[in-house]
Amino acid sequence: MSTGSAPVRLLDDASLTELRHAAEEILAAAGTSATSPALLAAVARSAAALGAPIRHACRPVDTDDGLFVLRALAVDDTGIGSTPGSWATAGDRAAVHDIALLLLATVMGNPLAWEGQQDGRFVHNIVPSSGHERAQTGASSSVLLSPHTEDAFHPGRAHLLMLGCMRNHDAVATTAASICKVRLGDEDLAVLARPEVPILPDDAYAEARGFDGRPPNVPTLWESEDGRTLRFDPAYTPLDEATPEYRAAYRRLSEQLAAVSTAVSLAPGEVLIVDNDLVVHGRVPFRARYDGTDRWLKRALVRVPGRRTRPPAEATEHGYGQAAIEAHAA
Ligand SMILES: [Fe+2]
Repeated sequence: MSTGSAPVRLLDDASLTELRHAAEEILAAAGTSATSPALLAAVARSAAALGAPIRHACRPVDTDDGLFVLRALAVDDTGIGSTPGSWATAGDRAAVHDIALLLLATVMGNPLAWEGQQDGRFVHNIVPSSGHERAQTGASSSVLLSPHTEDAFHPGRAHLLMLGCMRNHDAVATTAASICKVRLGDEDLAVLARPEVPILPDDAYAEARGFDGRPPNVPTLWESEDGRTLRFDPAYTPLDEATPEYRAAYRRLSEQLAAVSTAVSLAPGEVLIVDNDLVVHGRVPFRARYDGTDRWLKRALVRVPGRRTRPPAEATEHGYGQAAIEAHAA
């Protein structure tokens, strides 16, 4: 399958086996990949013992692409069973890969979950769901999933997004556009750094959408101690409330992101790691099969301790009442 121009990192056979065995051992003891203190403690312990080659493969993104593809999981198309019809029925399907992904996430930082999403699990199942074809969430299929920062509405959003591929027979592409490749004038940069409009919670957060509180205005693009940072989700940004100047700058940013966008078609076993401060991601439209062979991704989120990319004002945001749960490395 094509990973486009995305940098690819490989794990050697010994490391693939090491990761797989570690995940199997944890799953055998826990019996499930659902969130529990015992599971998180076992993952933290095991991740701390993983060898140098795995740690090296999990180093931060080191190119302007703001992402990389890690070939890390040994996925057996028969063994994982059929693609679930929705996240709600996925349960423990392919649970060993949930745990492998969680181990990698723990090497990269602190895994993150949301109380209000997919039963508080640390690894989400992304599959097309009947009735959600046209939604702007991971359950959609027939529409373009617009480029966005993951969980852009929330100050506790992840620094890294991980998408592990279980199945992708139709080579459906994930799109990604890096702010490092965008060239904007100083005036546009100054305008987009102003907190002029809010970013509302997306449809995956039903409770947050009913939150009774004033949405905070947030900047779209700013310079942080750790470089330029993007917070962007046009599908949930009420731009009609912004000034014409802001709208024009936002449009130029959107156009530039579209121009530098790349497509990554993940193959089973590949994990796409996206820096969520630098890169917006989306998905091309596709026709769902709903026959158990649909595209199936596993998603994990990571907070990187010590990162200085978020402005202090974010600390005062209410996050629409959504609570992030952060697991800590050993
Ligand atoms: Fe997303």
